[in-house]
Amino acid sequence: MPAILITGANRGLGLEFAHQYITDGWTVHACCRSPAQADALQELGKGAKQLHIHQLRVTDWDGMTALAQQLATEPLDVLLNNAGIYGDKDDQNFGALHVEPWTDVFQVNTIAPLKMAEAFLPHVAAGKMKKMVFISTKMASITDNHQGGSYFYRTTKTALNMALKNLAFDVGAKGITVLALHPGWVRTDMGGPQAPLQAPESVAGMRQQIASATLAESGHFLDYQGQEIPW
Ligand SMILES: NC(=O)c1ccc[n+]([C@@H]2O[C@H](COP(=O)([O-])OP(=O)(O)OC[C@H]3O[C@@H](n4cnc5c(N)ncnc54)[C@H](OP(=O)(O)O)[C@@H]3O)[C@@H](O)[C@H]2O)c1
Repeated sequence: MPAILITGANRGLGLEFAHQYITDGWTVHACCRSPAQADALQELGKGAKQLHIHQLRVTDWDGMTALAQQLATEPLDVLLNNAGIYGDKDDQNFGALHVEPWTDVFQVNTIAPLKMAEAFLPHVAAGKMKKMVFISTKMASITDNHQGGSYFYRTTKTALNMALKNLAFDVGAKGITVLALHPGWVRTDMGGPQAPLQAPESVAGMRQQIASATLAESGHFLDYQGQEIPW
């Protein structure tokens, strides 16, 4: 059965990804900051031997290296960089931009997914499907920005997009497909209660894009329905 590693798997889209892949019989390495508090994820594990829960704060570089070493003999079909943060809304208004929290959001949304790609490159290269997937957002699109605001979130995800586009060139020779996905606006803690989409629909759509993406589509930015998003 194929194997996937998911960051931020304890709630929201990450939890739903874990749920759907387990249901399909995949081996799921579900990472979260606090496994002891990850009740919904622990619940998924009951009766599903192929769920492995790992403690990982994605900006803990040593912890990331240690996890990669611990899983050294486990090929991964898909590395799914899902963990992300928006940052405090009040800190990211022009005129009152706060530097330290901006740097924190940059570490989580931009640097950490790329460090994950470095750490887990051998695992993905050893897998059959060879895919590295990054959950981005349409809010990162420069072309699609008609509203402004959200400086931390937009800039760090736009930087993520550039980084993964670069990565597509670096890992293409190893046969690894790199994909940026926009989940839609989804009802999670981040998306809020007004969001029109539910996680199961968004995740089912993204899973289709992950399954069908070929090396020829590497470095592309798609939404959950497979529509190309302009950078
Ligand atoms: N929901 C939407 O409408 C929407 C739209 C576009 C893009 N996205 C993207 O989709 C992804 C998932 O979002 P979501 O809506 O599921 O958000 P969410 O419900 O807020 O969940 C975020 C997840 O990321 C984890 N996380 C945050 N910082 C972390 C860190 N330093 N180390 C490890 N894990 C960390 C959280 O863990 P804790 O529980 O420990 O905090 C949580 O599991 C994000 O990358 C987000 O930018 C979401």
